[in-house]
Amino acid sequence: MKTVNVGIIGGGLMGKEVASAFGRWFALNDFPVSVRLKAVCDLNPQALDWYRQIDSVELLTTDYRELLKQEDIEVVYVALPHHLHLEYYLDVLRAGKDLLAEKPFGIDLDAAVRIRDEAKALGRFVRCSSEMPFLPGAQRVISEIKSGRLGTILDIRAGFLHSSDMDPEKPINWKRQSKFCGEIGVMGDLGMHVMHIPLRLGWVPENVFSRLQVIVTERPDGKGGRAVCDTWNNATLMTTLTTASGKVPMQLEMKRLAPGETNTWFIEVNGTEGGVKYSTKDTKALWLYERRKEQVWMRTDLGFQVPFPTVTGGIFEAGFPDCFMQMLAAYFAERAGALGDRFACVKPDEAVNSHRLFHAALQSHVTDSLVKVDYP
Ligand SMILES: NC(=O)c1ccc[n+]([C@@H]2O[C@H](COP(=O)([O-])OP(=O)(O)OC[C@H]3O[C@@H](n4cnc5c(N)ncnc54)[C@H](O)[C@@H]3O)[C@@H](O)[C@H]2O)c1
Repeated sequence: MKTVNVGIIGGGLMGKEVASAFGRWFALNDFPVSVRLKAVCDLNPQALDWYRQIDSVELLTTDYRELLKQEDIEVVYVALPHHLHLEYYLDVLRAGKDLLAEKPFGIDLDAAVRIRDEAKALGRFVRCSSEMPFLPGAQRVISEIKSGRLGTILDIRAGFLHSSDMDPEKPINWKRQSKFCGEIGVMGDLGMHVMHIPLRLGWVPENVFSRLQVIVTERPDGKGGRAVCDTWNNATLMTTLTTASGKVPMQLEMKRLAPGETNTWFIEVNGTEGGVKYSTKDTKALWLYERRKEQVWMRTDLGFQVPFPTVTGGIFEAGFPDCFMQMLAAYFAERAGALGDRFACVKPDEAVNSHRLFHAALQSHVTDSLVKVDYP
């Protein structure tokens, strides 16, 4: 079995999530690729300390160029604040490495296009992180839609809801400041997760009317003072797409001010013959509708039906670390030519198209009008 050496740049929340998935890689049944975390870079030496407990890690550094010089590292996962994506992603590609990028894949549309184009020019394998579609419920939503069972699609709703901005006294961090998070604010934070399945199914929004809200405008700066908080808390996008049977409305929600919601990702698709809905709020429940004399939604409790089987029993429920590991498995399987017909991670063109939508949503907010999404 081939072993791929990996480096991580950005050892915060998500760097640790990747390292922890690698730590139980053996749970994947008959997986064709083995992974080895060899090096981690973080500007903050204290963040690096956590990685000392991982035997395979040979290099801990505060200088990412040192990590990129390691010739035996083939793949680099980068989990940094958004204003650093362009420079770091390009440097990873130019160092001859493949990239697992984090969303939003550049701070804005221009950055996303430049990363996509450089990856293409250099022939590197690049995908972007978005894990929720690898949950069993999300996988079933995809297969139900692809089966054609739903008939004519009536409407689509998808979203990602957090309550992470609800506490106005929570100290500020980079995710709440436009210069680090991006002008697209919450869309950059949560939007890729919402768009992954629609874009993969070919549901590309043609136009958008957006409602962007910034409610919490100031927070403690963590040093006894106050700091300006200028990112959008909530974004609601009314979009239109064209399917074989005509124009269909698709409502997309990305919210950090959603009372009661901690990490609720959902998708609902209604058709004339059937419907399907899934939300992480009720992790096991898949809801299916079939047109009958009576209007009935049926609930099925799902088990561990994941794209890459593991040692976990079939009736056990899946959670965040599981879908994250499945997403990583999809990355390494696709890179090795072993993905088959399974669902792939976000592709650079899809990441760029999500930025095109968010860019148009900003214009819609400014002009208070419906804006065409431009796909040159
Ligand atoms: N896929 C997901 O579900 C998910 C969830 C959260 C965040 N993210 C994304 O992951 C990325 C990182 O977010 P996070 O939550 O891990 O952030 P974080 O703040 O927890 O971690 C970022 C780390 O980068 C380090 N860092 C900052 N500048 C650096 C530099 N120049 N060189 C090296 N290290 C540097 C910081 O010290 C910190 O440890 C973002 O793109 C974010 O949107 C994805």
